[in-house]
Amino acid sequence: MNARETLKINEKGHLEIGGADCVELAKAFGTPLYAFDEAYIRRMMRVYRDTLRDKYGENGLVLYASKAFSCKAIYRIADEENIGVDVVSGGELYTALQAGFPAEKIYMHGNNKLDYEIGEALDCKIGCIVADAYSEIDKIDAEAKKRGIKQKILLRINPGVEAHTHAFVQTATTDSKFGFSIQDGTAEKATVYALSKKNVVLDGYHCHIGSQIFEKQSFVIAVEKCLDFAAKMKERLDFVTETLNLGGGYGIWYTDEDRKISPEGYAEYLEALITAVKEKSQEKGLKLPYLLIEPGRSIVGEAGITLYTVGAIKEIPDVKTYVAVDGGMFDNPRYALYQSKYTPVLANRASEERTEIVSIAGKCCESGDLIAVNVSLPKAKSGDILAVLSTGAYNYSMAMNYNRNKIPPCVLVNDGKAEYIVRPQTYQDLTRNDVIPKRLLKK
Ligand SMILES: Cc1ncc(COP(=O)(O)O)c(C=O)c1O
Repeated sequence: MNARETLKINEKGHLEIGGADCVELAKAFGTPLYAFDEAYIRRMMRVYRDTLRDKYGENGLVLYASKAFSCKAIYRIADEENIGVDVVSGGELYTALQAGFPAEKIYMHGNNKLDYEIGEALDCKIGCIVADAYSEIDKIDAEAKKRGIKQKILLRINPGVEAHTHAFVQTATTDSKFGFSIQDGTAEKATVYALSKKNVVLDGYHCHIGSQIFEKQSFVIAVEKCLDFAAKMKERLDFVTETLNLGGGYGIWYTDEDRKISPEGYAEYLEALITAVKEKSQEKGLKLPYLLIEPGRSIVGEAGITLYTVGAIKEIPDVKTYVAVDGGMFDNPRYALYQSKYTPVLANRASEERTEIVSIAGKCCESGDLIAVNVSLPKAKSGDILAVLSTGAYNYSMAMNYNRNKIPPCVLVNDGKAEYIVRPQTYQDLTRNDVIPKRLLKK
């Protein structure tokens, strides 16, 4: 299976995902609709899990970065595939626990965890918290003391690696809201600080250098910098790094400007990391750390598509043609946020020649509400079903109710059959928490 086999064009000329005809999906579930291919998700989880075990033994764990797509079903799949997860909020933690995900295999991130989120994490006996600030170390220590426990933590360190990706998704340069910088000495100070606390157990370090990264070398440099730092901490503080979490960030295919990597191809990224960890640990005389990685986008991104129905078409002579769909930035805010590029396909005429250059607009009252700009399509008509590919990561999880649009439902396709994993929102859902103060009630 290569990365695109999850998508096929059938004999009717319709796009299929995971063996389900997208036109039939649109009929059965309506649009807009997120559809995920379960086989692809499991395949990706297995590639990472098996590569780690084969090349590094049982001395590590793959964590699915659930910020990429969080709902109960995805935590069930991760659990069945024997991997861990990371969460970045009380809400993600709650969802994982509601799905019956084992707390000891959950890692909690975030640059500003709230007191109650830390409390909830300790109450469920979470595996590990990744501390990102001095105040968080204090809070975890205090909450652990209240409960009479010692909480395992990692420190998020910032190795100062420039990864080739969009600035907003770069997280390990010195100017970042995330992590203690190695370069300016705060990572060492934070280590000393964490070691001084009685109710936390500092187990090692975490870094995440950014997202949508294709250059293996960026990850290798991050490993080297982290282990150089670990060696210094051993020498200066006699602190042994038991665990090293190297984050996620592996790039996926959105358009033909991106590299196309088959699921098996991602093993190479992990192999490069593992080789770097082994070589550097040996060079520095460090014991091999328990190794964690946290891929999100690469597990669910290419597994998902969004289906829309084409509505209004606005041709502005000599300027542009806008093809408007029944979704928009409320189900995919990524173009509006950082001009992310996507590939659209007319799902009901998937083998037709692409003869036009158009921009796909959403239905929100916002000029910047675009899904894709200057992309090729066959001549679109109202009523066509438009699929946008590679929307499995950071689409549903970033969706919102702007203009009081309903967040689309999600279906999971297994062997050609689709079922809801997130049900459609209703207008009642949208007004559920609204309150009209008595003085404003209609007399
Ligand atoms: C700490 C951390 N780990 C893992 C990830 C997952 O990254 P990706 O989805 O690019 O694999 C992120 C993404 O922002 C992150 O911040």
